[in-house]
Amino acid sequence: MVRIIGVGSYAPETYITNEDFEKFMDTSDEWITERSGIKKRHISPPEITTSEIAYRASLRALDMAGISAEDLDLILVATSSPDSLTPSTACILSAKLGVKHKPCFDISAACPGFIYGVEIARGLLKTGDYKYILVVGVESGTKFIDWNDRSTAVLFGDAGGACILTQDETDRGILSTFISGDGYLAELLKIEVGTAYPVGSWGVRMKGREVFRNAVVQMGEAAIKALEKANLKPEEIDWLIPHQANLRIIEATRERLGLPREKVYVNIDEYGNTSAASIPVALEEMLDKGLLKDGNVVLCVSFGAGFTWGSLLMKW
Ligand code: UT7
Repeated sequence: MVRIIGVGSYAPETYITNEDFEKFMDTSDEWITERSGIKKRHISPPEITTSEIAYRASLRALDMAGISAEDLDLILVATSSPDSLTPSTACILSAKLGVKHKPCFDISAACPGFIYGVEIARGLLKTGDYKYILVVGVESGTKFIDWNDRSTAVLFGDAGGACILTQDETDRGILSTFISGDGYLAELLKIEVGTAYPVGSWGVRMKGREVFRNAVVQMGEAAIKALEKANLKPEEIDWLIPHQANLRIIEATRERLGLPREKVYVNIDEYGNTSAASIPVALEEMLDKGLLKDGNVVLCVSFGAGFTWGSLLMKW
């Protein structure tokens, strides 16, 4: 089966707490905690670019997989906050890793970008033309934040998570994946950087309430789709790893599946919304804490700008 054999993550050391925000913005720890579940978020300094976060996470993933960077056949980076529009962050990462003459490209699929990346990697590994693929979900998105907009500034954080995928003969690995999207709702959540926007007008723009409503529906739908594809029931899941955008969305997804709280991994309080990074970061944390055990059935589910959504069901 196609499976993840290495996981690594990295978050910048600097962070901002809700109390720090209270000092320069009309907001409160109480509002942020109640409405989102976030307590702090990591913020990358200028020299820690998206590719640098990806690089640090990737070294850890390679180490766990027991392979070297030269063994990689493809590098995929899912991000909404690339170092530059071109070259891709994946190309910049490949040079940092010392990889030469291997394909590398970025995936722009917002928060579920990591799941999109795994879906692509899985398909390519099945062709037999690739042995090891690196998939990174990484953001340094606080660099795009409009610090005068309290409705978005308090929500996002920087981090990266990397996974090495391969195909082997074990019965552990990816049981099913599901990805989808709806470009008709693109206006509801955007990072306004690109040819449609004048230079200097950067910022994350979000209609929070509408995004919330759609996220609740599609996170639940995506979770059920992956389970149906694998012919599994929610009670057969050991862990639900939801995208960490809002504790209330996580709760709604948990309720839709009828799962007890102890089966849901939550770290939004520590990281805020790290978009494409949230799921691989959670995977490494869970491994570090000894929570994720061989044979566990793990369902990852995510929703984000585009809109895009997706799910990934694995036997760990
Ligand atoms: O990762 C991609 C997917 N993203 C998401 O899934 C995010 C989805 N949306 C959300 O998580 C929530 O909608 C938010 C956390 C962004 C906002 O929570 P909400 O309960 O939907 O609040 P709201 O946007 O409806 O705003 C309620 C009030 C407003 O004041 P009025 O108009 O009722 O007077 C806002 O101006 O809260 C105000 N507000 C704030 N107050 C204190 C907005 N931001 C803040 C803030 N501090 N930081």
